[in-house]
Amino acid sequence: MRDAAISRHLLAWYDHHARALPWRVGPADRAAGVRPDPYRVWLSEIMLQQTTVAAVRSYFHEFTTRWPTVTDLSATEDAEVMAAWAGLGYYARARNLLKCARQVVADHGGHFPAARAELLTLPGIGPYTASAIAAIAFDEAATVVDGNVERVMARLHDVETPLPTAKPALTALAERHTPSDRPGDYAQAVMDLGATICTPKSPACGICPLRELCAARLAGHAADLPRKLPKKPKPTRQGIAYIARRTDGAWLLETRPDKGLLGGMLSWPTSHWGDDPAPAPPIEADWHPLEAEARHTFTHFHLRLAVHVARVPFEAEPNRGRFHPNEAFRRADLPTVMRKAHDLAAATLRDL
Ligand code: ADE
Repeated sequence: MRDAAISRHLLAWYDHHARALPWRVGPADRAAGVRPDPYRVWLSEIMLQQTTVAAVRSYFHEFTTRWPTVTDLSATEDAEVMAAWAGLGYYARARNLLKCARQVVADHGGHFPAARAELLTLPGIGPYTASAIAAIAFDEAATVVDGNVERVMARLHDVETPLPTAKPALTALAERHTPSDRPGDYAQAVMDLGATICTPKSPACGICPLRELCAARLAGHAADLPRKLPKKPKPTRQGIAYIARRTDGAWLLETRPDKGLLGGMLSWPTSHWGDDPAPAPPIEADWHPLEAEARHTFTHFHLRLAVHVARVPFEAEPNRGRFHPNEAFRRADLPTVMRKAHDLAAATLRDL
């Protein structure tokens, strides 16, 4: 009974407080029979993994404007899609996005399958995303468990076990609360609650629709949950980025191998990244090391990228990568760490 009370309160709150999001069909339209476009639901869920709504908005707009359907996206060259994704991070998502789009077109006639179990067979669609698409796009009573949901469940039930140990217990609790009526709205309601009220720090318990039902609030320590096991500190790796500019203004760039970090992305040629990487210039030149480094934090390590710059003559032959004419070069096509290197190098290259 209590479980049904939670989804009932949450849905009543969502009916009035749902965030307006570009990929969302709000509760009123949904009640009137408007169905969300599975392509937009899928695209938004992939983009939102590890990324905030604020960061995703402009990318979602650009993608859906350039590629209004999954069939349009599937027919696009890899490099074009990777360039459009540049800056969003976690680039394996973009490679899988294209693989998934092509598989939806090849195997499903350009229509996303509706069932969670079938969605799970597609590239880049794991348990979270399959549940989110099945629930939001097709109203299957699938349970969506992300960091927001874990936090809400830990607080509602005053689960003191730290993450990640508590994951299975929190998933089981989330399953118990998932209603068979309006599961799509319910999934989005929990996400909105986690993003706007049941926030990681300073939750707004005073205006929470679940305040009377929340065990951690009643115990007076909602803000301390979920507890987390201490994380291992991240190691720091070093590398060298080589930015060569030809006398006609062309830039030496390479496409990184599909496997591995920044896979498939346009990049300055770099050395190996490690403790003490050996120099590996992509072309013979009078290389100038810059004083400042490009720093960036990835999932498992910090990177400190030294930046070496050079002017090279028109005849010079690189041992890897290729020259991109200045008119074809767009800083925005680079991943964030390579944009940082570019910005450090730009002034020096003008003076060389
Ligand atoms: N975060 C992940 N998916 C979301 C969605 N569909 N709406 C709002 N925030 C989200």
